[in-house]
Amino acid sequence: MTNRQARELRVHFCKYGQDHVFKFWEILSEDEQLQLLQQAKSLDLDYLSNIVDGLLHSNARRSRVFGTLFPARFVKFPNSEVDWQKWKEAVTVGEQHIANGKVAAFTVAGGEGSRLGCAAPKGMLQVTPLKKKTIFQVFAEKIRAAERKYETSIHWIIMTSERTHNETIEFFGKNDSFGVENIHFVKQGQMPAVSGDGKIIMESRGKIAMHPDGHGGALKALGKSGMLSMLENLGVETISYFQVDNPIVRCIDPYFIGLHAKNRCQVSSRMIKKLYPEERVGVFCERDGRTCVIEYSDLPKEQAMLRDSNGDLVFCAGNAAIHLLDVQFVKKFNGSDLDSEVTYHVAKKIIHAVDQFGNTIVPQSPNALKLEMFIFDILPFAERTVILESERLSNFSPIKNSEGLDSLKTCQQDQLKLFTKWLLAAGVDIPSDENGLPPFDIEISPMFADNKHDFLKKWSALANKPAIAAGQYIE
Ligand code: UTP
Repeated sequence: MTNRQARELRVHFCKYGQDHVFKFWEILSEDEQLQLLQQAKSLDLDYLSNIVDGLLHSNARRSRVFGTLFPARFVKFPNSEVDWQKWKEAVTVGEQHIANGKVAAFTVAGGEGSRLGCAAPKGMLQVTPLKKKTIFQVFAEKIRAAERKYETSIHWIIMTSERTHNETIEFFGKNDSFGVENIHFVKQGQMPAVSGDGKIIMESRGKIAMHPDGHGGALKALGKSGMLSMLENLGVETISYFQVDNPIVRCIDPYFIGLHAKNRCQVSSRMIKKLYPEERVGVFCERDGRTCVIEYSDLPKEQAMLRDSNGDLVFCAGNAAIHLLDVQFVKKFNGSDLDSEVTYHVAKKIIHAVDQFGNTIVPQSPNALKLEMFIFDILPFAERTVILESERLSNFSPIKNSEGLDSLKTCQQDQLKLFTKWLLAAGVDIPSDENGLPPFDIEISPMFADNKHDFLKKWSALANKPAIAAGQYIE
């Protein structure tokens, strides 16, 4: 049976020039053969060859990247009476939208986390400075706080990858989902790694090298898992998308949601001002009248460096990877008119691979192309978008690396700075250095407040305000 299936598959793979996948078939153990069969059956070679042909043999990507770019327009911080009036109106719309059950939270928690190099899923990282809460717990508390404030229920969808799936589910199980009642897990898709000439790479004699299909894989994962239909049936219109590696994010923000809803946007995104030209964040731009994100490596240097008469960067709108997605719009990428429009990006990687003799080797230079979709690639297809200027400290402190920039340490420091800022705004006398960092650890629970506005309100209403000193936890 196994051999017959293998023969048939081999013929099929041969048609696409991929029969080397079965090169060591005869010397595989039965288990290995079964594993390889399963992997091989799961691949859509027609789809793969179209993708690879498109990426390797056409100039489409180049021309897409280097078309005429303009800086994206964005909604600036409120700066006048009129702005504040508009802010209030948007907040009211957003609050109604949330209270009416029209918003779901969505965390992408898949990927490989290779830069961080931590074996467990990133969401299990103990991230808060004092209580050492995990990222998943922080998000759960933010969602529960919004549910309580708006007397509603918020469905929380978490996207995992092959690598993070089982452990994530087990972790939530052990912790009673941190009190979140409506929680759903969806596993993202995978793609095989290919060589420069489009051949599938084997990581061992009986195993195809697979990797997650990128955070853009979320679009298909939401459709295939039935989540989009579920959200539609629940009357949810807006998906609040955020990434697991950014614990500081406001999971449910009425202002952002209100702007998005008021303008009937299909996608909205938060931007943070780039700190310096070479900063490694994508940049919101406009091309052909549509909003898009250009990766930092693709933004031509002269544009990255360009400054206006005030000395500010012209292409300044950094992508904080926080988006609002309209459910109906995401549906269009699932079996509808935009189904195959979001395509893949290529990254060159070094991965384990078998040589012609069947030995697994680790090459010295990149041997594999990793094919990934990016969520922001849906932006150009949206007719209506809002890009919202956002304060970095209140929204963006990603954990990418094990040390240095964008690490657990910088994220904990940012949380401390943020708490200190709120306390200072409330008139509390708290020492801090020139960077705004206090000399001791404190923590404010998201169940108390997850933003300055709510904090000030709650703090001023406290009958017995705690003295702020080392180890103070405000909940
Ligand atoms: P990154 O692009 O930083 O990728 O993901 P990564 O896999 O976490 O880390 P590296 O690049 O291997 O070091 C940004 C966010 O998107 C999610 C990650 O969980 C993270 O929250 N992501 C990324 C996915 O959910 N799936 C993917 O395939 C890639």
